[in-house]
Amino acid sequence: MMSALSGHTVAQFIEHYQMGSPFDLDNEKAYQAWRENKLENYPENVEELIVEINNPAALTSAEYNAIQALVVKTNMAVYAGNTWRDPDKTIPAKLGKQFGLSELDDNMGADEGVTSLKVVTGRWRSGYIPYTDKPIHWHTDGYYNPLDLQIRALLLHCVSPAAKGGENALMDHEIAYIHLRDTNPDYIKALMASDVMTIPANRKDGKEIRPDCTGPVFSIMPDNNLHMRYTARTRSIEWKDDPATQAAVKILSEFLNSESPYIYRATLQSGQGLVSNNVLHDRSGFDEDEGHKRLLYRLRYYQRIADA
Ligand SMILES: [Fe+2]
Repeated sequence: MMSALSGHTVAQFIEHYQMGSPFDLDNEKAYQAWRENKLENYPENVEELIVEINNPAALTSAEYNAIQALVVKTNMAVYAGNTWRDPDKTIPAKLGKQFGLSELDDNMGADEGVTSLKVVTGRWRSGYIPYTDKPIHWHTDGYYNPLDLQIRALLLHCVSPAAKGGENALMDHEIAYIHLRDTNPDYIKALMASDVMTIPANRKDGKEIRPDCTGPVFSIMPDNNLHMRYTARTRSIEWKDDPATQAAVKILSEFLNSESPYIYRATLQSGQGLVSNNVLHDRSGFDEDEGHKRLLYRLRYYQRIADA
């Protein structure tokens, strides 16, 4: 399976083909070459994303290579390890380290950068959807973070799944870019504008916890890779009020809610996890019972998964 995967990161593509950035709207030649390479042998079902491993904290080189090849191709991979219900928080952190990930986002609710996603009642967390059993719409993580502290990699590690539900839909953000650019390059232009998307300040009891955050949906990072900030939420978000932006947001939303083969769906089981360059994802609602309480660890990094 892995041998069928071909691909380059954008940085490798630019270096190898000497064509400049495929994300430059004036560089159609580079875009088409990169696009062709990207879509060739692109995995079409979630099974192709799963890598069976032993211990996530200490990968063999074959396991590492299999995950890395998938990440280069699709910006994500799902590992299935043998740690089962072991609640040790260092397991996913050690996995991340093997992919060059060390700069953890110490967000509200994180314990040394590792956030326990579980149903919490009666404390401040119960006001935030991640700590409930409710569905979460499509987004990338940390879209409300300051622009200089964007989340470029996201790991999820499952200790225990819910009795029912808690499925993640996943889409490579580069695929979303291709869909929009192929539909109309003006949509990309609109979504790259620095004032296209504003998340209003988070205030609690009159106190500002987080200021307004305005920025682009798509941006090109200094390492030439594509970054995406997005949320499908319709409350507490202000989209720029112009026709190109409104049309682009609509097309993107339709794509994410379609039956596209580029949308993968996975319900992580004990010992399984997601390694990703903060791809687009959602979560379905879930039901728990006494023996099936959902616990996932979430790790957000300021770095992207390192090229091998
Ligand atoms: Fe998320």
